[in-house]
Amino acid sequence: MDERGLLEEAAALGIRYVESVPGRAVAPSATIEELRATLDVPLTDEPVDAAQVIAELARDAEPGLAQMGSGRYFGFVIGGVLPVALAADWLTSAWDQNAGLAIPTPAATVIEEVAGRWLKELLGIPETASFALVTGCQVAHSTALAAARNHVLAQVGHDVERDGLAGAPPIRVIAGAKRHGTVDRALRFLGLGTGSVRVVPADGQGRMVVDALREELAREQGPTIVSAQLGEVNTGACDDLNAIADATSETGAWLHVDGAFGLWAAASPSYRHLAAGVERADSWATDAHKWLNVPYDNGIAFCAHPSAHREALGIRSAYLIHADPDAARDPVDWNPEHSRRARAITVYAALRALGRRGVADLVERCCANAQALAAGLAELPGCEVLNEVVLNQVLLRFEDDETTDRVVAAVQASGEAWMGGTVWNDRRAIRISVSNWQTSEADVERTLAAFAAARTNP
Ligand SMILES: Cc1ncc(COP(=O)(O)O)c(C=O)c1O
Repeated sequence: MDERGLLEEAAALGIRYVESVPGRAVAPSATIEELRATLDVPLTDEPVDAAQVIAELARDAEPGLAQMGSGRYFGFVIGGVLPVALAADWLTSAWDQNAGLAIPTPAATVIEEVAGRWLKELLGIPETASFALVTGCQVAHSTALAAARNHVLAQVGHDVERDGLAGAPPIRVIAGAKRHGTVDRALRFLGLGTGSVRVVPADGQGRMVVDALREELAREQGPTIVSAQLGEVNTGACDDLNAIADATSETGAWLHVDGAFGLWAAASPSYRHLAAGVERADSWATDAHKWLNVPYDNGIAFCAHPSAHREALGIRSAYLIHADPDAARDPVDWNPEHSRRARAITVYAALRALGRRGVADLVERCCANAQALAAGLAELPGCEVLNEVVLNQVLLRFEDDETTDRVVAAVQASGEAWMGGTVWNDRRAIRISVSNWQTSEADVERTLAAFAAARTNP
């Protein structure tokens, strides 16, 4: 098969898979052992025909795929893929640009400049903020907190980029008890360590208690980062950013916002109030692969202090062709990656196709479906919805841990829908995250029916 034939065959396989998703069981049908039996073949000395590789790859992998693009996949916080974003992703791979430098790849650079501007506009972030398109919110935290580390240490006369952390005063990181684990992980990467975290209690929904934050801020002086959150991973609860910004603004602390999915509330007139005060932060981390429904992997860091961002991430090498910063933006200066995928292309395509109204509709539809799921589930015997469904997350449990685990396992096994379990206040619970552009009322009904069947007949 020639190159065109191979690419057409791969595209046909991809299209066939996407079209088949609504009719497939949501959970994978093959076990890891079964997949090893087909995929774990000896590496041959001689080449294998490319068409055969692609055909067998699709045949052997598909049984082991979770249908994460399904409108009934509610696990973790997983966005589906908008058709326009998938199409743009295919072009991104075909173009295969190493999108670190503006001059060698001007198209990727301009697309990224525009995508960054649109994202700031939509998410309520000041237009003067710098940004970086990274692999996900985890790396967005690392990027933004590297800038924070630079800034708060520069304020006390320490150059962390030159001198590292040796001899630096300690940095205190104040964060809520229900912060996401990726914040701590970023602190480990940055050499601040999890021991730098001062934990502020959270309320019943997972929001940082602001009075406790004030007390913690008053307890010590010195370089401080406060990490707030829009969208607690179980409940969707959003911290009161205005109150947090009021508390931090006098202290010189850096305010970071983990808005992996919750920041997208700012794109909807109906949900924007949850992100009120967002423009007052110093840095923000979010994802495009969650609520914007572009393919993995795609996250974004923003920073209100471009010089700190650039000092923390920038690079100069004789063989690189650096653009005049007044003329063009070299992504490599803002990203932790050196070589990188042109991941702005899918964001550009998705935002252009949706427009402001389309992004708001996407957010609002997911939230409405979450409300409908919560209302339907609350009718089931023994079911308790544990959160105020303010956004796209529903947290529930049944009368005891065993029943809760049995019900979720039965729903997963039914193939009708997929969601995972968690622990909330020391008890087993079930998390539902509605983050997919195509979840429909019919998907909600099917999911409720699956729960009802699992409840009566686990
Ligand atoms: C609140 C929050 N922060 C950070 C993350 C990590 O995002 P990613 O997996 O894209 O790195 C998540 C993932 O669900 C999240 O919900």
